[in-house]
Amino acid sequence: MRVLVTGGAGFIGANFLNLLVPRHPEHHFVNVDKLTYAANPKSLAPIADAPNYAFERADICDPEALDKVFDTHQPDCVVHFAAESHVDRSILGPQEFIRTNVEGTFHLLEQCRKRWKDGDAWKGLFHHVSTDEVYGSLGDTGFFEETTRYDPSSPYSSSKAASDHLVRAWHRTYGLPIKITNCSNNYGPLQFPEKLIPVMVLKMVERQTLPIYGEGLNVRDWLYVTDHCEAIWTVIEKGKVGETYNIGGHNEKTNIEVVDTLCKLVAEETGADVEELLALKSFVKDRPGHDMRYAIDASKIEAECGWTPKETFETGMRKTVRWYLDNGEWVESVRSGEYKRWMEENYGDR
Ligand code: NAD
Ligand code: TYD
Repeated sequence: MRVLVTGGAGFIGANFLNLLVPRHPEHHFVNVDKLTYAANPKSLAPIADAPNYAFERADICDPEALDKVFDTHQPDCVVHFAAESHVDRSILGPQEFIRTNVEGTFHLLEQCRKRWKDGDAWKGLFHHVSTDEVYGSLGDTGFFEETTRYDPSSPYSSSKAASDHLVRAWHRTYGLPIKITNCSNNYGPLQFPEKLIPVMVLKMVERQTLPIYGEGLNVRDWLYVTDHCEAIWTVIEKGKVGETYNIGGHNEKTNIEVVDTLCKLVAEETGADVEELLALKSFVKDRPGHDMRYAIDASKIEAECGWTPKETFETGMRKTVRWYLDNGEWVESVRSGEYKRWMEENYGDR
């Protein structure tokens, strides 16, 4: 296959490429990324010189740039990660989310539509990477299933919902071969330090206060990033065209449980006093439209594709803490520049 990956310099895309490029020398991978604040080319150091890997800097909202990339690489599989991905940023400035997540997805679909029709038949596969946040918020019980009604709350999740609808429409209307995966919250190495887990670990190391939104009782269903990457590849290989698969690890935790676990692990790994770290917890103003609970029913991908997660919450969290402690240089490289300025402008020194 000639696999075109969008957003491969971001958190999940880089983990995906670092896992699959060495494993599949028979496939060619091209990474198309605009390199926004959330990207870090250093994340791709393990594969930068691999013979079956290429990088193209391009904006998925630029149809001429996409045309050139598709002409050069002639992909027959697109794995679409590129997105603006942070809920808090989407609340402060939604426009870029509509542009990249909705318009960018549209331009990619159009590239595939004009190139993959082979007589009356279609070739190729468009794999759309999406989120469980499109389903909105759960109460105390129940799980998101593939048939759960879309009910997004934030500009981020509504832009992802819109992109899912476009992908499904290009399948129903034109016949474009697509698959969609909707995954729960990921954590692991290479995640940009604006999301809960890296924010907390790095603040603990620097003995800064740990900002917990509202009462900290919101629940997220955490999945180690490599398990997500394996699930996507499994769906590409074994999933049915036109279908949606939910991906999750049955690791429902309140935000307080996550922060307490991180305090314990950081204390164990660094020799710090756990009570000193726990005392850094601080309850701050809640996020507007903050979804209360996410939880995934992953029985369809298990039954149809045979995928199950390998990491438990305990093993995955320890690996993640260790990775952030051991990779100060990576952390500094993403914290400099635009991100740092944005955080200072919007959140002061919180
Ligand atoms: P990320 O923010 O870490 O990375 C996004 C990448 O996309 C960056 O490399 C960025 O430069 C690139 N990008 C942004 N706009 C672009 C544009 N216009 N053109 C080309 N490239 C552009 O995101 P992530 O956490 O790795 O998420 C990847 C995908 O997975 C997203 O579609 C997200 O919705 C989905 N997802 C994420 C999670 C999660 O917990 N992080 C969970 C489920 C689904
Ligand atoms: P986040 O990592 O932003 O992912 P998402 O909003 O996509 O689920 O946040 C995870 C949870 O942690 C969410 O309930 C918001 C909360 N949170 C905090 O309490 N403090 C923080 O500093 C951050 C970044 C998130």
